[in-house]
Amino acid sequence: MKNQVYIENIINPFKKIITVSSDKSISIRCVLLSSIALGRSKIFNLLDSDDVLNSIKAIKNLGVKCVKKQNYLEVHGVGINGFKFNNNLTINAGNSGTLARCIVGLCSATSKKIKLIGDQSLSKRDFKRIIEPLNLFGVNINSKNGMLPLTLEGTKILRPIKYIEKKGSAQIKTSIILSAINTPGITEIKSKKSRDHTELMLKSLSYPIKIKKINNYDLIKIKGLSQFRSFEYKVPGDISSASFFIVLTLLSKNSELQIKNININPSRTGIINILRKMNASIKITNKKNYKGENIGDLKITSTKNFKSIRCSSKLNSSAIDEFLLIFLIAAKASGISKFYDLNELNKKESPRLNIAINFLKMLGVKVLRDKDNIKIFGNPNLKLKKKYHMKKFLKDHRVFMLSVVAGLTLGGKWVIEDSDAINTSFPKFLYQIRKLGAKIS
Ligand code: S3P
Repeated sequence: MKNQVYIENIINPFKKIITVSSDKSISIRCVLLSSIALGRSKIFNLLDSDDVLNSIKAIKNLGVKCVKKQNYLEVHGVGINGFKFNNNLTINAGNSGTLARCIVGLCSATSKKIKLIGDQSLSKRDFKRIIEPLNLFGVNINSKNGMLPLTLEGTKILRPIKYIEKKGSAQIKTSIILSAINTPGITEIKSKKSRDHTELMLKSLSYPIKIKKINNYDLIKIKGLSQFRSFEYKVPGDISSASFFIVLTLLSKNSELQIKNININPSRTGIINILRKMNASIKITNKKNYKGENIGDLKITSTKNFKSIRCSSKLNSSAIDEFLLIFLIAAKASGISKFYDLNELNKKESPRLNIAINFLKMLGVKVLRDKDNIKIFGNPNLKLKKKYHMKKFLKDHRVFMLSVVAGLTLGGKWVIEDSDAINTSFPKFLYQIRKLGAKIS
């Protein structure tokens, strides 16, 4: 059937060198920031996925010319507050929480009405988290229950704010930073640590932004209305996409994989830190710095004796998109693994905490939940023999890819629906995995 994949055999040992898709967070930020730069930016290696295509469509709707060249996207930036579009514009963010949350901040100074819509999954997600701080700037946002669709009516008289972001969400932080750029004066954000690509990109553009690190928070001061020039950017590989291959290799027999040119920004490498504590063999080589971002090659080797972990919630934000995979390793570890304060996992493309618990239970793994904390009772001899049918996961790309990795490493006969889910972040996922020798029909 269309959009279903079948897995009947585990993957044979492999030894390969691969690359994975470009970083989604950085790609979206490149598109949004280049739209308000002055002049023509060139973005190389931009992720070719639905979330990024929707970002390009969004800035085109705002009057920004984008030209697809042979190996880069050229964006004709219009400068801060330079968007030109008709009243009652509709922007469709599709499946992308990052685009949806950030575009509202980017458009905070418009005096025309914008309606923001998204797909079924995005329409179930929380937007109160950005409505509240943006209201403080003076932006008018109407939405039923703090969800999509929402209508945004910006204002030309924005005022700077002081805000404490407590969720550790880079989407909230970026939405506020983008709105601060439209606002005269200095906005101050005390933000629980989360991925900092926006800050690094702005620093590399010499934008006036100051960051002071204090414990688990960053103090960010940003001066508004400082026009900045167009730029060139070469997007590195996405560690979140690489993670499916990391775990595939760790759980496969006698295998070794090198993944080249991956973004290893410390705010993203929680999965490596957590899995190393669990005994995983992951090495990083060829480290370099590009515009403030750390980049390196990963070398992963099959690992047998995983240890359980007591995972500090301080690591949550840096591994936020990788917990499904970490749970799979915990299911194969000896002992009981414990994870805490995972509420934000239920705020993703699907309610991932609930889905992960049901998934592990379906595999016969014992899981205990106490509010947002879970215990996973690992079994190093876990082998699957039954039939598994994955459906109704709101087309969450990461749940789809997790299921493929589980089927190819733990056994069982799998039917997994909604393979088109990968188009949001990693359209070549199945192609890449087949190149390693996996039989997926
Ligand atoms: C993202 C931030 C994270 C992450 C998402 C991408 C970003 O979300 O889950 O996939 O690009 O800023 P939160 O910031 O809401 O935690």
